[in-house]
Amino acid sequence: MTTTTTTDIKSLVRPNILHLTPYSSARSEFKGRADILLDANESPFDNGHNRYPEPLSTDIRMALAEIRGVDPDKIFIGNGSDEIVDQVTRIFCIPGKDNVVALPPTFGMYKVAAGINDAEFRAVTLLPDFSIPVGKLKESWDENSKILWLCSPNNPSGNLMDAAVVEELIRSFPGIVVLDEAYIDFIPEASFLPRLDEFPNLIITQTLSKGWGMAGVRLGAAYASEFIVTMLRTIKMPYNINVLTQATALAALRQPEVMRERVNTLVSERKRLERDLLTSDLVDYIFPSVTNFLLVRFSDSDRVYRHLLDRGIVVRNQSYQPNAKNCLRITAGLPEENDQLLAALREL
Ligand SMILES: Cc1ncc(COP(=O)(O)O)c(C=O)c1O
Repeated sequence: MTTTTTTDIKSLVRPNILHLTPYSSARSEFKGRADILLDANESPFDNGHNRYPEPLSTDIRMALAEIRGVDPDKIFIGNGSDEIVDQVTRIFCIPGKDNVVALPPTFGMYKVAAGINDAEFRAVTLLPDFSIPVGKLKESWDENSKILWLCSPNNPSGNLMDAAVVEELIRSFPGIVVLDEAYIDFIPEASFLPRLDEFPNLIITQTLSKGWGMAGVRLGAAYASEFIVTMLRTIKMPYNINVLTQATALAALRQPEVMRERVNTLVSERKRLERDLLTSDLVDYIFPSVTNFLLVRFSDSDRVYRHLLDRGIVVRNQSYQPNAKNCLRITAGLPEENDQLLAALREL
């Protein structure tokens, strides 16, 4: 078992990024009262968004710090967690030399970010029950492996990764482990966030796109050591979170009870969908899910997919993914939408 320290983490960062001087925005160059702003070439006519946004999304970080119980200096706000996936790849992977390791079937952006940044993508397929093949995974990495992507709960399978296995991997992987908790609001007790400080090489990502119901505003968060957060800030675009997003997200974060109520509704709808689908002859198997979606194996997924599409109902075809032959991923919708889905399936 290895112990990682901040010094080790520094040595994982691409040297050009480690020594980069970040862009200094007009608003961060002074301290004190600001009555008249003539420093950023903005328009002075107040329409609610004539000023540049606060660069570090501080109000949002404060709100998340309170909700999640994490120091705001250990929080980075991204334009969706998609942006964070790309930034982490850029910070740690030397193009043409380093590699990242991931466990398909899983979220597709890890591979896309590797491709954009010319990092080798090493895929180790999850076992048929979508648990982690620990021995095989450990054989896959080497001294150029900079990132291990773990997605828990995993998309598209819907299952949590075993916490003891996750811990063992964080401790033994020689680079950065990113634990993608995009769906954690559907099972908050499983989050690794309370243990963040135990692991200097851990980045936890979360999003407002799922449980919080704000995919359209584009807001994701990374939780990590202050050093890693500083690196994320160093390479971000100066104003990555626009004023409209910051205001909308903040308003929602001030009402966590609304999110919780909706999450509860979606979890019970997912359970209802599962119960009903299990009575259908078309369904071979439903993978256990702790999220707002189900991965369902049908006897003939293409036929089901086309039939639903004919009825104007779109689900996600996952048949091309490893260990997901004949599988469709179905998101829990509003109760009446789920009724329509079930009714459409009964027609077959
Ligand atoms: C596992 C996982 N991570 C990240 C994302 C992207 O989140 P965001 O909307 O914050 O970019 C998704 C979206 O489907 C996802 O499934």
